Amino acid sequence: MRSSSSSSSSSSSSSSSARGPSLAVLMVAAVAMCCSAILVALPSTSAMNVTYDSRALLLDGQRRLLIAGCIHYPRSTPEMWPELFARAKANGLDVIQTYLFWDVNQPTPGEFVMTDRFDYVRFIKLAQQAGLMVNFRIGPYVCAEWNYGGFPAWLRQISGIVFRDNDKPWLDVVGPYITKTVQVLKDNKLLAADGGPVILLQIENEYGNIEDSYAGGPAYVQWCGQLAASLNAGAQWIMCQQDDAPANTIATCNGFYCDNYVPHKGQPMMWTENWPGWFQTWGQPSPHRPAQDVAFAAARFYAKGGTYMSYYMYHGGTNFGRTAGGPGITTSYDYDVALDEYGMPSEPKYSHLGSLHAVLHANEHIIMSMNVPAPISLGKNLEAHVFNSSSGCVAFLSNIDSSVDAEVQFNGRTFELPAWSVSILHNCAFAIYNTAAVSAPLNARRMTPLVVHEDAVSDAADHRRSLSKGEGQERVGAFSTFASYAETIGRRAEEAVYFTSPQEQINTTNDTTDYLWYTTTYNSASATSQVLSISNVNDVVYVYVNRQFVTMSWSGSVNKAVPLMAGTNVIDVLSTTFGLQNYGTFLEQVTRGIQGTVKLGSTDLTQNGWWHQVGLLGEELGIFLPQNASNVPWATPATTNRGLTWYRSSFDLPQSSQAPLALDMTGMGKGFVWVNGHNLGRYWPSRIADSMACDDCDYRGAYDDSRCRQGCNIPSQRYYHVPREWLQPTNNLIVMLEEIGGNPALISLVEREEDISCGAVGEDYPADDLSVVLGCGLHQTIRRVEFASFGTPVGTCRQFSLGSCNAANSTAIVESLCLGRQACHVPVAINHFGDPCPDTTKRLFVQVSCA
Ligand code: GAL
Repeated sequence: MRSSSSSSSSSSSSSSSARGPSLAVLMVAAVAMCCSAILVALPSTSAMNVTYDSRALLLDGQRRLLIAGCIHYPRSTPEMWPELFARAKANGLDVIQTYLFWDVNQPTPGEFVMTDRFDYVRFIKLAQQAGLMVNFRIGPYVCAEWNYGGFPAWLRQISGIVFRDNDKPWLDVVGPYITKTVQVLKDNKLLAADGGPVILLQIENEYGNIEDSYAGGPAYVQWCGQLAASLNAGAQWIMCQQDDAPANTIATCNGFYCDNYVPHKGQPMMWTENWPGWFQTWGQPSPHRPAQDVAFAAARFYAKGGTYMSYYMYHGGTNFGRTAGGPGITTSYDYDVALDEYGMPSEPKYSHLGSLHAVLHANEHIIMSMNVPAPISLGKNLEAHVFNSSSGCVAFLSNIDSSVDAEVQFNGRTFELPAWSVSILHNCAFAIYNTAAVSAPLNARRMTPLVVHEDAVSDAADHRRSLSKGEGQERVGAFSTFASYAETIGRRAEEAVYFTSPQEQINTTNDTTDYLWYTTTYNSASATSQVLSISNVNDVVYVYVNRQFVTMSWSGSVNKAVPLMAGTNVIDVLSTTFGLQNYGTFLEQVTRGIQGTVKLGSTDLTQNGWWHQVGLLGEELGIFLPQNASNVPWATPATTNRGLTWYRSSFDLPQSSQAPLALDMTGMGKGFVWVNGHNLGRYWPSRIADSMACDDCDYRGAYDDSRCRQGCNIPSQRYYHVPREWLQPTNNLIVMLEEIGGNPALISLVEREEDISCGAVGEDYPADDLSVVLGCGLHQTIRRVEFASFGTPVGTCRQFSLGSCNAANSTAIVESLCLGRQACHVPVAINHFGDPCPDTTKRLFVQVSCA
């Protein structure tokens, strides 16, 4: 089985692939061409006309090949945006795509929030400043693994409302919302017609997937089109996954592959969501889609006529606070995409796709100068798409077989085509890129402790010293002694509200908190034990009897013998949501909390009279906010391994690199964590990923999200991003709410550093990219060449070893090109290394460590 690592291209068989100018040379040309092409769309503030024909989107009358990537503004900080955009731009993206998140921008009917992470106007302006255009997806529904698919919970209070149907209460609230949003874009001159970067607007989202469930579905789709038309927005409207999209909107495709998508008559081929990875849920390992397959899907799409493709996601980021969707989306929304959760290039995906983008842009003027050519068969599962016009010639050679490598003849030359790959031929003669041939670096990261429990400082400092091989960086700080505060169990007398039976949770809390207490009493004739059963309760539930914890459940029901005393017993059930459902039909009907019957032995308690207490006392007092943190009597030393307990501590930030930071929540059970009042999201490191859900990864063949999973049998999420801008040099406040029980002494603040970078490229590469690319983190440099061999080395990253042939100067040459640099290219060529074994196909394997 093929591995997805870059060393998979290390076979020693000699090849007859055609040779041409190296990719490095063409990349220079590509960059030049890409930039002259982009100048057309650069952030001038003059109006741009966005139209289309059956071949392409037209910007100011010019057919374009556009590459987009999705970054959701609330999933990163405004301080991160410029760097994310700069990386996207450098990686060859033309367009940034984002949804509008209704729930955060209009949290209550009369309140519009546009500050900090929710300031989409600033986000769009910064994208424009970075030379990027924007696809703004208004919704109202977004899905997006976002809490409740982006719907504010207050919508549920509108009498008779049916979400996403041709239903008056729904249209009456959505119409004004979309109208107001477009007005915000107009007022800020963000639309293309006003000189802004927004070229594409999306209404609804994948409504076609569920439309059949709604009697008014087709009418609602037409209403969407009419609303869009009425707004005179000055950008092109699109609808994704919408067979019956109105004529004034372009219908687009979403999926892992869209090369077989048939556009609507007269419309161009557009792909709004190419999923280059996938999202993660608690208890599952992390998804991984190999870079080779993402590149294959993208290359096939443009070969077969695509004009616009967007990676969903390009930077996934973080589900801060309570924004994760459900049920059970993790706090990390890393998504295994080009920029990782922290905004750093995720290699080899970032660079491998970047090379593809450069080649596509370099040939954009040829590809878009003509209609899509009919494929030419080169054999079974082998075909060529040849763009040959007065502008030049470029060919895409595809092998769509999922297992058989091929050698094909094309234009009088022989080309190696690995299974499930596309080669792109410069001048229809030289293979300058092959989707399966990864020359991008393969990087490994390490998490180095920066702030730890006071007893662990010297061990952590030793650990840092050993990693940096004695070269400093040994500064490690300590958390101040942790204090704890026990949350009040059950109702708080004067605030709770009484109903005969348990009420639905989302309507009761208005989704302002995860927590709802249900309290009732029961008179027992004697001290005894009875089985408490709750037939339907979601998502995670904690049961207390007489203020003592008895059980927790996340299975949707409770069935547990509980101890009773003679006389009145108090039963408290804490029901917690963990991300409201974000996909499906009739979301207005979603229910949480106690929905079934409650019984104690044979006694039905469902109509027994229940007090409802919204939220926890600590939440109400805001004790995670620096100004309120002293509002409760914290106790030291902290009580550990107790449920429903708050912890607090403070710490100074030791001098360190500018590497991204995370909290390692090892030792804690489940809950929330705040730093300086910022809610980092839900943590649940005790939820271990399914031990059976991982497999060897073969990039070949159609991907689905069950393939190539990584990280079985370890916490599904151990690290939680702490944006640096949320910290200060001294006296940072950390507060945790622990639901299950944990030990705060075991957590740490860690730095996320590049550890090593590897590259492996052979002379027999199916493309003419003959250099190894290596790179460390943004603020790091290459410190040591740990392995370098031009010859016949073997093995995979971290386990390279010499073969029988090795150029003695390998290490010296790599050192001269790479040491002290952030990144470097090492040509795989005998004019650099000499020829240590003539007549043998050689390869260059390198491993460097980062400082
Ligand atoms: C799509 C949806 C996106 C996202 C994606 C999966 O169907 O439009 O918002 O949920 O699935 O990540």
